Amino acid sequence: MKKILDRLSEEMGMAFEEAGYEAELGRVTLSNRPDLCEYQCNGAMAGAKRYKKAPMKIAEEVAARLGDSRVFKEAEAVAPGFLNLKISESFLLEAVSSMSVEPKFGLEMKEKPRKIIIDYGGANVAKALHVGHLRPAIIGESIKRICRYAGNDCIGDVHLGDWGMPIGLVITELQERQPELVYFDESFEGEYPQESPVTIAELGEIYPYASEKSKSDPAYKARAMEATHKFQNGVRGYRALWRHIMDVSIPDLKHNYDSIDVEFDLWKGESDVHELIPEMVEYMKSEGYAHISEGALVVDVKEDTDTKEIPPCMILKSDGAVLYNTTDLATIMERMRLYEPDEIIYITDKRQELYFEQVFRCARKTKLVNSETVLKFLGHGTINGSDGKPFKTRDGGVMHLERLVQETKDEMYKKIREGKSREGREISDQEAKEIADIVGISALKYGDLSNQISKDYIFDMEKFTSSEGDTGPYILYTVVRIKSILNKYREQGGSEEQLVLLEAGGEGEKALEMILVQFHAMIQSAAAELAPQKVCAYVYDLANAFNRFYHETKILSEEDEAKKKSWIRLLMLVRDVMETCIDLLGFEAPDKM
Ligand code: ARG
Repeated sequence: MKKILDRLSEEMGMAFEEAGYEAELGRVTLSNRPDLCEYQCNGAMAGAKRYKKAPMKIAEEVAARLGDSRVFKEAEAVAPGFLNLKISESFLLEAVSSMSVEPKFGLEMKEKPRKIIIDYGGANVAKALHVGHLRPAIIGESIKRICRYAGNDCIGDVHLGDWGMPIGLVITELQERQPELVYFDESFEGEYPQESPVTIAELGEIYPYASEKSKSDPAYKARAMEATHKFQNGVRGYRALWRHIMDVSIPDLKHNYDSIDVEFDLWKGESDVHELIPEMVEYMKSEGYAHISEGALVVDVKEDTDTKEIPPCMILKSDGAVLYNTTDLATIMERMRLYEPDEIIYITDKRQELYFEQVFRCARKTKLVNSETVLKFLGHGTINGSDGKPFKTRDGGVMHLERLVQETKDEMYKKIREGKSREGREISDQEAKEIADIVGISALKYGDLSNQISKDYIFDMEKFTSSEGDTGPYILYTVVRIKSILNKYREQGGSEEQLVLLEAGGEGEKALEMILVQFHAMIQSAAAELAPQKVCAYVYDLANAFNRFYHETKILSEEDEAKKKSWIRLLMLVRDVMETCIDLLGFEAPDKM
């Protein structure tokens, strides 16, 4: 089904044409004076110059042609030449009715889906996920779901950091603590033990310790670099330790992502392409793209039009070591071979912007991608504490993701219990916990996604978990309210079959329908602009419009059966649209709250 503004513009365009003007002038937009009208058209103003006529005159001529329109109930020309419009209830009903029966509410699909790889999450093996990993996970998950819903073929890849220095650091510290481990015995030729010499809890302690130590101890750092080299180059014992660290770390990462409903289609990582690197390096050299500069192998990526300095893209360090760039470029090569994507979207901290600019230029210049392949970088801002500095634990430490999620769920639990006791209603502890777990995720995700991706925001636990205002819990309360009305309706013997929608009666009902029919345009622009905040803004508007309607309408006690049934059908549609939106944001609603 066509987007509502397109349908309104079509009708308006015809009126312009009939009055002797070009149809393009009939572009209709939402009103910016909702107190005066619902929609508006400023085409007469635009046409005045072209047709050398007073805009008011044009507007009046067009309005006269809309007198018997089935689309507009009112079209009024107002000085100096605006067209103030009101949509007809019957036309709105047609649109809402088709939304209620068509798949995806009648969203138009592209003829050919685009294949999009979304590289998000960015977890590093051997390191615990911390608050910095929250945004790429939440944003990436939502963008993947939005783009998929809009009809694209999306593949989400966590792209693990599993080939770098953190692993070398852990190995070095392990050797320090347990030098007798067989992995360090270079003459050992037997099978290595199946069991890892380190547990996840130990890893959680070893990595931060080793990382700190390497900052003040250059010899230690040098050993860690050597260990990194060794496992990368396949020295048996070191490679075996790398495997153990992977096997211990990955299930923990999966568990963490699982706890915030973030799911990847691919659990690939930097390590998956290490065998492609020699081939890629050879290719870049033989085609003359790469050259040696101060011992390192680099590809120049600066362009004449640059206004800032873009350093060359380094492919190999002077000691032959691979870099973050190298694995990213080889990953592009692999992705093109395996998936032939039309587009790859990277979601990381915005501080990696220059880095990705270099990588993208290098991939283009060396023709690792086709000229049509879109490479997009989406940089997110930081999560700050109330002091405006990057979010920390109360004692100033790194906030682990697991802890932040738990604290949010705990706060939600507290609020749910308090709310229930205020209402004097009983709820079991178990039930309160289950609800808090679901609602806590909405608080966290909505609190994040309702902000512009590139902006920093303040993590405000009090605000995010509030059931009032522009928050996840408020949205869920609204969904649950609808569900509970529908439940009551069923309990009273009402059927959900053969419900016929009627024309909106009151203002609140009409306003609600007018928001419903904006769904298609909202999805398309959220997908095109990679903007989950548009879904947030929409679902918030929808929740507000529903609550207004709910407060002015006695639904279940309505005596006119036809009216009541129509409202029930409308509620079902609002529930479905809201549940679709929150699913696109990556959370769900409980059955009760
Ligand atoms: N692991 C990286 C980090 O912690 C993020 C990975 C982002 N994706 C990529 N293809 N480079 O910074």
